[in-house]
Amino acid sequence: MKISIAVLPGDGIGPEVITESIKVLEAVGNRFGHDFQIKSGRVGGNAIDDYGTPLPQETIDTCNDSDAILFGAVGGPKWDDPNVDVRPEDGILAIRKSLGLFANLRPVKVYPSLINSSPLKPEVLKGVDMMVLRELTGGLYFGKPKKRWNTARGRRGVDTLKYTETEIVRILEVGFELAMERRKKLTSVDKQNVLESSRLWREIAVEVGERYPEVELDHILVDNAAMQLIRNPSDFDVIVSENTFGDILSDEASVLSGSMGMLPSASLSSLPGNSGTSSKVSLYEPIHGSAPDIAGKGIANPIGSILSTAMMLRLSFGMHQEADCIEKSIDAALSEGYRTADISSDGGNQVNTIVMGDVIAGAI
Ligand code: IPM
Ligand code: MN
Repeated sequence: MKISIAVLPGDGIGPEVITESIKVLEAVGNRFGHDFQIKSGRVGGNAIDDYGTPLPQETIDTCNDSDAILFGAVGGPKWDDPNVDVRPEDGILAIRKSLGLFANLRPVKVYPSLINSSPLKPEVLKGVDMMVLRELTGGLYFGKPKKRWNTARGRRGVDTLKYTETEIVRILEVGFELAMERRKKLTSVDKQNVLESSRLWREIAVEVGERYPEVELDHILVDNAAMQLIRNPSDFDVIVSENTFGDILSDEASVLSGSMGMLPSASLSSLPGNSGTSSKVSLYEPIHGSAPDIAGKGIANPIGSILSTAMMLRLSFGMHQEADCIEKSIDAALSEGYRTADISSDGGNQVNTIVMGDVIAGAI
């Protein structure tokens, strides 16, 4: 079977971690006899420099012609001027929106061999295994009005937190479905004591919950969620939240895994096996950003990106064995003591990005 994958490395450490992911993907192709056809595309700040847009038409075409998208990261200080009209981040936001990738799955687990890499106590980390489900195409990121302007009484800026019933229902359905496959516990995060959109969210969560009587549904305010996440992280199974809350909480949750560099994500327009959606192309990316401070130094942790590759094999292509094989190879590299700088506080054998990729690919 020929499988075509759009690979968009982007900016900063994006290309560095993507190179290692491709290395691992090729090892998987060789071992399991798959023909992965890689088509790369430009996105982000480097695309602004060369094409004047963070998402050139060519890249859009490449994505549309592919079976899945593997994404690195975008952004950097070079393109951070608050007064420009085009930003690297617009590239990823446009892909998410145009492909209808509303469900962002961010699994968080604790690797026993990394337990000392987290600043949290080992007893707090025990049994942590959660899925942060972030709504990805609504809320503050996309709501209109969204603008800045001048008035006689000074400058103003507005963003809009807006959700439709349809948007809330579909993300909650994904949340319940995920919970059904896991420990049957769904925590819905909102700020219903202040926000109207959250009051609607909570009301709909209760209604959708009636269709999933086996799932225990909890509601929690986002500020409290931020605290519970590091106080009692093992209490959580699936966490579902609107776009911005999910962005923030998932960075926080990554501390449980030892580093931001460890977390993968999948952005889907439906759950696998669920038909009736606009698009079947899904996108896979690590949750870390372009990390300009360490870009070009060769020290980035490629594991978040390699785990994203495993999620792609599992969720887009149903290649469970292949995905398991990648995850086991990562476990093996970590238990053998291989560490990139971000996870090296417990000692171990500190290696650079390329060596970590070689070790994992070698174990496939
Ligand atoms: C993420 C990132 C993006 C987001 C940025 C780069 C736009 O932080 O994927 O979490 O905020 O969604
Ligand atoms: Mn983020």
